[in-house]
Amino acid sequence: LDNGLALTPQMGFNDWNAYGCDVSESLIKSTAQAMHTNGMQAAGYEYVNIDDCWMTHSRDSAGRLVPDPAKFPDGIKGTADYVHSLGLKLGIYEDAGTATCAGYPGSLGHETTDAQTFASWGVDYLKYDNCNNNGVPAQTRYTAMRDALAATSRPILYSLCNWGQDNVWTWGANVGNSWRTTGDISANFASMLSIFHSNVGLASYAGPGHWNDPDMLEVGNGSMTATESRSHFSLWAEMAAPLIAGTNIPQASADTLATLTNSRVIAVDQDPLGKQGTLVSSAGGLDVLAKPLAGGDVSVVLFNETGSTATISTTAAAIGKTGASSYALTDLWSGATSSTSGTISASVPAHGTVMYRVAGGTSGGTDVTGELRAVGADK
Ligand code: DGJ
Repeated sequence: LDNGLALTPQMGFNDWNAYGCDVSESLIKSTAQAMHTNGMQAAGYEYVNIDDCWMTHSRDSAGRLVPDPAKFPDGIKGTADYVHSLGLKLGIYEDAGTATCAGYPGSLGHETTDAQTFASWGVDYLKYDNCNNNGVPAQTRYTAMRDALAATSRPILYSLCNWGQDNVWTWGANVGNSWRTTGDISANFASMLSIFHSNVGLASYAGPGHWNDPDMLEVGNGSMTATESRSHFSLWAEMAAPLIAGTNIPQASADTLATLTNSRVIAVDQDPLGKQGTLVSSAGGLDVLAKPLAGGDVSVVLFNETGSTATISTTAAAIGKTGASSYALTDLWSGATSSTSGTISASVPAHGTVMYRVAGGTSGGTDVTGELRAVGADK
């Protein structure tokens, strides 16, 4: 969406994956405070987002949404003021139907009032869900809220949450800053893997201001091991996905925080060229992805989907790099540097990822990745 926002994929936090319906002002404030001091804000996490269940079950006499006074004693406005005082931004959730997924009032038919209410509270981001939509075409419903947000004149990042329905990637770029490409993620490797497979072939639809959204991060949650969480984070960065942390931030482990704040991997996600990475090869659960970066570097992910350690190999030429006798590799997780005359290869643990930034030579880029993207899209 051409509203000047999300020129690189949005980064932030959302409470849903860790807390479900159990959202509150104190949770949002303590999360924002933790992000402010634990390195996340410095690493680029900006939006602190409230998900479903923040309101009461009825609108007020003027037809406006009402924050649950027990959960949000200072309202959304008071919560936003606090989040803003830390230099962060506040996101909210609504639904393009008659009710949210959890049964609270939806915005269908109330778009103008609700967008104005959000703007008056100082909201900076809207995640717009898809439950109870009465079969009204998604493009109609999501466009109505786009126009209502624009009419407020407040910059509000607009995140479409219609779960990949109606081929949203074919029309989403004119409607929202990002669109969910799949159903909900859950906190295990199989769920993350299946969403990766669904999202990876959609690279041609993404770019600055309009991103494929393979759902929020489960880094640090459920049964995700540290190795699996690093793979999840690497793949989302390589796919230029929104990076919305979904774990308990004040109590996050050192491993979880180190994963979420890896500045080398974040730089791949946030690269200003805004290209989503594509599959270069995929055989027997051993995947190679390449993402062209501004200035000619290429980010490479070697991802082992399988349950045993394996060697994964590619070449500089295969990822679109030619014209040099030697290329510099930086391992984005260890920070180690090395060089290669062409082969790019590593032993990768089960469910693990090795990620390199490749520099040197020229980036043969567009043709090679364009051709290889088609291979990936067939999967
Ligand atoms: C469905 C969405 O896909 C989830 O991310 C979450 O927002 C829930 N609805 C909330 O009800």
